[in-house]
Amino acid sequence: VKNNEITLLDHTFPKDNWTNISENIISKLGRNLHISPYHPLSHIRQLAQNFDSLLVPENHPSRKKSDCYYINQNTILRAHTTAHQSELISMGLNNFLIVGDVYRKDEIDFTHYPVFHQADAVRLCTAEEVFQNVDNSNELKLFEHRGMETDEKQGCHALESVKIMEHELKNTLVGLAQTLFGSEIQYRWVQQYFPFTHPSWELEVHYNDQWIEILGCGIMRQEILQKSGAGERIGWAFGLGLERLAMCLYDIPNIRLFWSNDTGFLNQFKVEDPNTAIKYKPISVYPQCKNDISFWLPENKSYSSNDFYDLVRDIGEDRVEQVLLKDEYTHPETKKISHCYTIVYRHMERTLSKREVNNIHNQIAKRANEKLHVTLRG
Ligand code: PHE
Repeated sequence: VKNNEITLLDHTFPKDNWTNISENIISKLGRNLHISPYHPLSHIRQLAQNFDSLLVPENHPSRKKSDCYYINQNTILRAHTTAHQSELISMGLNNFLIVGDVYRKDEIDFTHYPVFHQADAVRLCTAEEVFQNVDNSNELKLFEHRGMETDEKQGCHALESVKIMEHELKNTLVGLAQTLFGSEIQYRWVQQYFPFTHPSWELEVHYNDQWIEILGCGIMRQEILQKSGAGERIGWAFGLGLERLAMCLYDIPNIRLFWSNDTGFLNQFKVEDPNTAIKYKPISVYPQCKNDISFWLPENKSYSSNDFYDLVRDIGEDRVEQVLLKDEYTHPETKKISHCYTIVYRHMERTLSKREVNNIHNQIAKRANEKLHVTLRG
């Protein structure tokens, strides 16, 4: 292996000064949890697929280096499965699902992990399909010339076609929520913004006394269809996170568990039928160990907390449960900024020794100083 190249899943890429993908992340590539037999994420994937074939029988995110994993300047690990939409439309598909692992730099807590899984869906319709249940539909059109973009529609779309698509999209997704959470589930639609859809919504369900956002969706931007050779159709799309759903449905308390090889976890999901109701029973809880770290941020280099979280995950691996930004302070004279983080260590399968924790903590401090150019405070 040459030092200026990186090989991932049999592809070799040149490295450059955008390369920021860590060993921890590289080790996750190709794990394919979502297609591992009996894995909870595989059950959720099958539920989503079953549902799709039943209910639809007929047929920007930010590019910041602190939010994405760059293989090099031109290539990032996908940050959402929506990334494959236009490629698949260009191949001639009109209705499809994309399921896969996605990679984002993010906070460290019970619900965030830099690798997670998403399912995306796309449905493209011709005018005939959209207006099939409407009388005198030959007067109705999908598009309108020189229209204005409003909260309800894109400039190029005729309002009646958008309303029918919106209705079908929302019905489909309420059906999905009811399939997963039961027909009594309370839900609500929240207006949202996505660069690739307009109008856009999020669907929230009321579960365990909380409103939980389960998916994003919308009417696809017509430019995407035009550029992919499907400009004569109109489309809707949605995307959802599999971990979020699995954590709710199976009462899985911590996102790190999905990566566990412990049979105490995996065997609880050993059922042939993904519709089986399962409630996860925690194996046992080992004690936490908290340790603080404070440092001055570099003065003439940029710094992002996400880069620090990534470094902590890379060194601490799954022994880190949470990182909290405890304190931010600006020196009154020098204007230098200092951050203090609490790192919560806890192994899922055994008790960590004080020595092991100190060792990881010291390595984190050393690497933060070398890689992020921070100055440790005593
Ligand atoms: N890709 C969006 C996300 O990751 C979800 C989405 C997919 C929204 C498709 C609209 C349409 O949050």
